[in-house]
Amino acid sequence: MRISVIGCGYLGAVHAACMAELGHEVVGLDVDEAKIEKLSKGIAPFHEDGLPELLEKHVGNGLEFTTDPSKIADAEIHFIGVGTPQRQGHIAADLTYVDQAIATIIEHADTSNGTVLVAGKSTVPVGTSEGLAKRLQDSGKDFLLVWNPEFLREGYAVKDTLTPDRIVYGLPDDQAQGEKAKAMLDECYAKPLADGTPLVVANYPTAELVKVAANSFLATKISFINAMAELCDATGGDVTRLAEAIGHDERIGSKFLQAGIGFGGGCLPKDIRAFMARAGELGVGDALGFLREVDGINLRRRDAAVELAEEAVHERLVGKKIAVLGITFKPETDDLRDSPALDIATRLWSRGAELRIYDPAAGPELRARRPDLTVPDTAEEAVKDADVVMLLTPWKEFLALDPKELIEQVGTPNIIDGRNVLDPKAWADAGWNYYGMGRGVSAW
Ligand code: UGA
Repeated sequence: MRISVIGCGYLGAVHAACMAELGHEVVGLDVDEAKIEKLSKGIAPFHEDGLPELLEKHVGNGLEFTTDPSKIADAEIHFIGVGTPQRQGHIAADLTYVDQAIATIIEHADTSNGTVLVAGKSTVPVGTSEGLAKRLQDSGKDFLLVWNPEFLREGYAVKDTLTPDRIVYGLPDDQAQGEKAKAMLDECYAKPLADGTPLVVANYPTAELVKVAANSFLATKISFINAMAELCDATGGDVTRLAEAIGHDERIGSKFLQAGIGFGGGCLPKDIRAFMARAGELGVGDALGFLREVDGINLRRRDAAVELAEEAVHERLVGKKIAVLGITFKPETDDLRDSPALDIATRLWSRGAELRIYDPAAGPELRARRPDLTVPDTAEEAVKDADVVMLLTPWKEFLALDPKELIEQVGTPNIIDGRNVLDPKAWADAGWNYYGMGRGVSAW
């Protein structure tokens, strides 16, 4: 099929490359010229496993990236993959880019050869599709809208797109239109569907809600275990053991029970806030009151990490050398959006600490964005003579750090394990003062 993908960020660029891998002819459109220039040369503009290989294979060979909207004209399906960031000064979502994408499609899509499908992938407030469908209909062109939410995780985005754990279609209520739209999507996703990927067919509001419900559930699970970490801190319990024990219950499951400095990124934090804002508009704000707590617990983790640093240096951070290991919101990405690690580092810096930050992927981006911060190229340089080492993003290379070797390089052996991924006993035995997040005093 001929496909266009509007918006070539973390979602759109990966979706475009994966659609080409599924055998479609794809054009990716974005207004960001620098990004399109890179993508057109087959270079991934961000760190995502497997994306460079797909770009190399398909760019110029069925996959094209452009800033020229006229190039999307003959697509049979237009995917909307633009961002819906948090609105400035408000918790609601900013739909400017979705509105622009629809305007671009209405202006440039050619529907003279038959119905053209518009498939929304961006995360939007429930009720958005209805308004967009009306705009498409009012354009007088032959469009059908579907909502087809995306569940990819950064770092695993290629895998999650090519072999998703489910596909969701939000179809128009009109049965004939719904069947036509479904047939077009079925053709687009023929391979994953043939592989047995579960398909859930629903109406627009359900499909929109599925996405925010899933992210809210994940955020709630993380904040739940972080609340337990607070209890463990108050009582001497170990939250990692607690998570292990409750995770054996299949009804609970062990995933997303990693306590630490909390969740961040371009999705979970802004999605739960936008969901609360929308529920308020709909008059059912009370139904999502618990998400305020989820957000609050999450933000308290950042305070807790700063307090641990103060405890490690006996209160005043001024002039203390702090090595920060990992600055992205999670490993396997260079994404710094709403990164708890960056927020904590900024707070330490504003309290006068001398920071050295090392991250395996985000160093260049951090240097460009924050020239005021010291960002060495290696973990060794970062930890040299440090008063405190803070592991804030659990990159694999940090898990392999040898406490016996590292202790030779630091000034004072204080390690703050912001993700509870180190073995407290091994670090304590090597002579370190180990600080976990909710791991109690007797964990080792
Ligand atoms: C999230 C969802 O997991 C995807 O399903 C969804 O498609 C995506 O948002 C989206 O809306 O586009 P992502 O933002 O890539 O994906 O990140 P996650 O893997 O969900 O992690 C989010 C944050 O939670 C990270 O900061 C991570 O470190 C933190 N986390 C995760 C924990 O603190 N503890 C855990 O146990 C798991």
